[in-house]
Amino acid sequence: QRALRRLLSCPGTVAADLRREEQFSGSAETGSEDRIPKKRFSEVQEERREQAQRTVLIHCPNKISEKKFLQYLSQHGPVNSHFFYESFGLYAVVEFCQKESVASLQSVTRTPSRGAEAAIPFRSRYFSLKLRNPSSQPSEQSSVQCSNQSSPSSKKLFELLCCAESVDDQLTALLKTFQLTEENTKLRYLTCSLIEDIAAAYFPGCAVRPFGSSVNSFGKLGCDLDMFLDLDEIGNFSAQKASGNFLMEFQVKNVPSERIVTQKILSVIGECLDHFGPGCVGVQKILNARCPLVRFSHQASGFQCDLTTNNRIALKSSELLYLYGALDSRVRALVFSIRCWARVHSLTSSIPGAWITNFSLTMMVIFFLQRRSPPILPTLDSLKSLADAEDKCIIEGHNCTFVRDLNKIKPSGNTESLELLLKEFFEYFGNFAFNKNSINIRQGREQNKPESSPLHIQNPFETSLNISKNVSQSQLQKFVELARESAWILHQEVKERQSSNQPWGLATLLLPSVANNISFVKKRKKPASERIKNLLESIKSSSTEHPTDTNGK
Ligand code: CTP
Ligand code: MG
Repeated sequence: QRALRRLLSCPGTVAADLRREEQFSGSAETGSEDRIPKKRFSEVQEERREQAQRTVLIHCPNKISEKKFLQYLSQHGPVNSHFFYESFGLYAVVEFCQKESVASLQSVTRTPSRGAEAAIPFRSRYFSLKLRNPSSQPSEQSSVQCSNQSSPSSKKLFELLCCAESVDDQLTALLKTFQLTEENTKLRYLTCSLIEDIAAAYFPGCAVRPFGSSVNSFGKLGCDLDMFLDLDEIGNFSAQKASGNFLMEFQVKNVPSERIVTQKILSVIGECLDHFGPGCVGVQKILNARCPLVRFSHQASGFQCDLTTNNRIALKSSELLYLYGALDSRVRALVFSIRCWARVHSLTSSIPGAWITNFSLTMMVIFFLQRRSPPILPTLDSLKSLADAEDKCIIEGHNCTFVRDLNKIKPSGNTESLELLLKEFFEYFGNFAFNKNSINIRQGREQNKPESSPLHIQNPFETSLNISKNVSQSQLQKFVELARESAWILHQEVKERQSSNQPWGLATLLLPSVANNISFVKKRKKPASERIKNLLESIKSSSTEHPTDTNGK
């Protein structure tokens, strides 16, 4: 009856969405038993890359007949799939069945000639479709259906969370609305592929590969697009053909260090994107960073892009996160909720600074899930021990070996609910001995901190690095306090669950108004009942007496 009441009280679309989700997805509660065989990371990357090479991006007139548009494009070969989206104008992503169709389309495409302005000719796969005679176009040209590329509004999120059946359903619903869609993923690979075409003008045979949250399965709609300019393929070409007694080498320029190579390459690619890259704006070269990069906006796709090179370890860590995300369906649901929680409370920010990052939060969730009894996720060392000869991977002297075939990893026997895990996550880190311990997913247990940064999370492959070195003591303290208060709120929630039109469960922790609620709870002088007051006092006193030195539960 409660279920029916909630569904009836929900706005139609949300209720329908939820029903659809139920049909298509298994329960996220236990994770392991609904695990379906998933593709290896490298297979996904290769398939998507090849797909992107057959795909074009077209800026369209605002009103267009979809049927005529597809008929027009089919002259160049069969279209496999397409979608439209809006981003300062109407755009279409069109995937042909064959790569040759792209060349055919390019062969009939002209470079625009515009009165006073002059165009730099560049035959890319990013086109602009014009109507020959706009005024004579009949009114049949209706608006096309557009695919959404941005994350839902807080109103939609609120409705969705309040209509869910349980806290577990809330976490699953949040994951389903924020995760990258098929279309958004295609657009990300296409954008990399378009940048690859530009980089290939300098380095024929190079590859531009997405990494980070665009591919590690933890990406949220609207997240940045991290790209890696891979020049290794160029080297491999000739190595394969070497035979006989001779060895031919290219004459190349030598510079004093790898870092200088990286800086020089990124410098010219940055110039190139700035001067000739269609749709690339706001190009910034950040070459003195620990990991030099070129940052720019890809206007047509709306992505903020970070292009790096010589960053193969980051690609490998994306593969590791992909594996962890695929091992148990609770992992992604928990990570998405924690990331959203952190964003709502300004623990994370899109501006670089002393804040905790999404990458660090993901590591904390993985570590926490390794610490459950029985563990929900295996340690990196155990993934290494399952690896075979083909999995062996050494990058710049770092051992990055781990098993890549998911089916070789035994599912966890742990059946804890998402609700419990969320609560326990907050409790665990609300009481973690950050002052003396380091988080280490390789061994899956706390270790003594090797240096004095407030938060120490060991980089899984470059083990001497701390991925959260930037985090200040005050930001860490804010995280700890919010974690404690969130644990407390969730405990209260179970006892005093409210009616369906009030925020409850995860909604209490996430909605912007709730961020104020938390400070409200904090500032409130006379809590309603003695019991709540005592609980609040005990949390407060433990936070001031032992800010960071309590361990475990
Ligand atoms: N990375 C790393 N060490 C760091 C920061 C980042 O190895 N200190 C790598 C990780 O593989 C990370 C990738 O670089 O996934 C991209 O970094 P970033 O964009 O900061 O994180 P994302 O995981 O992409 O998350 P977000 O959605 O916030 O962009
Ligand atoms: Mg990123």
